[in-house]
Amino acid sequence: MNSYTPESQQRERIPTEICSDAEAGCLRLAGEIAALIRKNDKAGRSTVLGLATGSTPVRLYRQLIRLHREEGLSFRRVITFNLDEYYGLPRTHPESYWRFMHEQLFNHIDIPPENVNVPDGTVPRGEVFESCRKYEQKIRDAGGLDLQVLGIGRTGHVGFNEPGSGRDSRTRLVTLDNLTRRDAARDFLGEANVPHHAITMGVGTILEAREIVLLAWGEAKARVLAAAVEQPPADSLPASFLQGHPAVRFLVDAAAASELTRVKHPWLVGSVDWTPALARRAVVWLAQQVRKPVLKLLEEHYSEHGMAELLIEQGPAYQLNIRIFNELQHTITGWPGGKPNADDTHRPERAAPHPKRVVVFSPEPSDDVLGMGGTLRRLVEQGHEVTIIYQTSGNLAVPDEEAAMATDLMLELSRSASGQPAGAEFARKVHGQLGAKAAYDSDPDEIRRLKGLIRRGEARAALKICTVEPGQIRFADLPFYEKGRYRQFRIGDADVAAVVALLRELKPHQVFATGELDDPNSVAGICFEIIRQALAVTRADAWTKDCRVWLYRSPAKEWETAEIEMAVPLSPRELAWKIQAIYHHKSQRSQSPVGADLQEAWQQAEMRNRATAKIYDQLGLAEYEAIEAFRRLPAEGSQRRPAGR
Ligand code: GLP
Repeated sequence: MNSYTPESQQRERIPTEICSDAEAGCLRLAGEIAALIRKNDKAGRSTVLGLATGSTPVRLYRQLIRLHREEGLSFRRVITFNLDEYYGLPRTHPESYWRFMHEQLFNHIDIPPENVNVPDGTVPRGEVFESCRKYEQKIRDAGGLDLQVLGIGRTGHVGFNEPGSGRDSRTRLVTLDNLTRRDAARDFLGEANVPHHAITMGVGTILEAREIVLLAWGEAKARVLAAAVEQPPADSLPASFLQGHPAVRFLVDAAAASELTRVKHPWLVGSVDWTPALARRAVVWLAQQVRKPVLKLLEEHYSEHGMAELLIEQGPAYQLNIRIFNELQHTITGWPGGKPNADDTHRPERAAPHPKRVVVFSPEPSDDVLGMGGTLRRLVEQGHEVTIIYQTSGNLAVPDEEAAMATDLMLELSRSASGQPAGAEFARKVHGQLGAKAAYDSDPDEIRRLKGLIRRGEARAALKICTVEPGQIRFADLPFYEKGRYRQFRIGDADVAAVVALLRELKPHQVFATGELDDPNSVAGICFEIIRQALAVTRADAWTKDCRVWLYRSPAKEWETAEIEMAVPLSPRELAWKIQAIYHHKSQRSQSPVGADLQEAWQQAEMRNRATAKIYDQLGLAEYEAIEAFRRLPAEGSQRRPAGR
């Protein structure tokens, strides 16, 4: 970095800015791009942009469209080069990047079609090399890239430069990583449909851009982002090669930044304000570093790990140890809805009222049991009035094979019964549609309806294991999802209104929700945003005064231990029930054999819950089989994590 770097960012080899959220980051970058275009227009020069696909830049493109429509920003002199394209897909394919770019941006601005360049994924194998060479030549002929926009894949890829790509790699045909293909599985309605190859600009090609901005939103990117920013550059993490570039920046949200040292372990990179939350985080970290239970931490452990300052402020060690031990201990409860008639001073949830009205929001069927199947069962057993709200039907995630099996079953039923059941006509229609569907066609309404029904059936079966009565289940089928497609979802007033109406009808004492730290363009991220907006609308309602909002996680990631505010232990039996419940979401199991490194959702959930219990055990608390963890939604406007300085 040329300019002054604050102490807290000394480990960062790439200037990284933590934006308040994805929207703010995209707004800023769009403004910068507009300024660049206007400056070049004035000088009579064209502007050459390198563009990316995926969820990450979607909001950026919406902002550019807005600037074009509302502020007259013209793209007549803009030339674009996209990073990559799946190999073997025709341009018309719904998942081709050519089509993606036209739907998300080019069709809505005044860019001349001849200025748009996307690698050609349709050239025969024998001509790929020449086609890639020409692509590079065209970039050079245009004067080189003024600005390259990037996202980052969970493997650390930029473009489709998977681990193993060299710093000097050029535009070429590549093989996609298993994890990348799995991440793309939803878009392609099944992993088996995801192409195995792609054409991508090389790392070397990208590094020739005069300026590079990488965007990352959501916690799924946190680990790989921190490695790219803080670890030495390596082939195993192609994004780390950006470190050598003279004008590279990362714009990220708080969730994507959460693994950076200045956010995760700020005491290691300078002096900090030792708030109680930070002290707890540091002590838990220290215990894990030295592999000791909290109560066995010594003065020297603190001082050897950059935490002497904390001891001066809040020590001596044993006293601090006891305080943190008690705090952690108080997160554990077998009474997630509060223990009736008990002293609740140190319990995560209040005793009264009992029973409580509890609402569990689940973005799609299965998120509920994956995140909190055991807790759900407890809440019901402990007499609370639990309502599960499935915000979306989840029909986009049901493979055709499942729908076909269901229609077969319905047709069979109609043949064996004497009269024609009412569903026979419908089944016949869907059966025909499934047969007529070309690969990757989007689903007509009837197929989506049937797939939604499949997920309803699975959800009911799963909730039966959790002892939830069918009458307690609501399927909200929010319009953003029913009318939308992946990467094209947009929240509408009707979505928020539907959730507001449900909340006002049910007047919950407890709400469980998820998706806060997910990619804001994902189904879970959007579902959370809808709940957030609905809670803002209902803020003045009387019932909200007595309502707590708890957050649960996807099985892929647990809360940081020190952030957990309620830890619900599961007995071996309860864990088995939970797995059985998840197992009922049959349509959500992987469609192709998974490699050893990739797990099914139920395996992830089991591992995660066991791992959380193990950590509690290692910290010296208690040895449970498994734990489901929650934290409370921070009040509106308050910062979840110190964003670093
Ligand atoms: C895709 C693209 C990348 C993109 C990345 C992340 O496969 N080839 O250019 O940056 O993976 O995708 P998303 O933004 O959807 O998380």
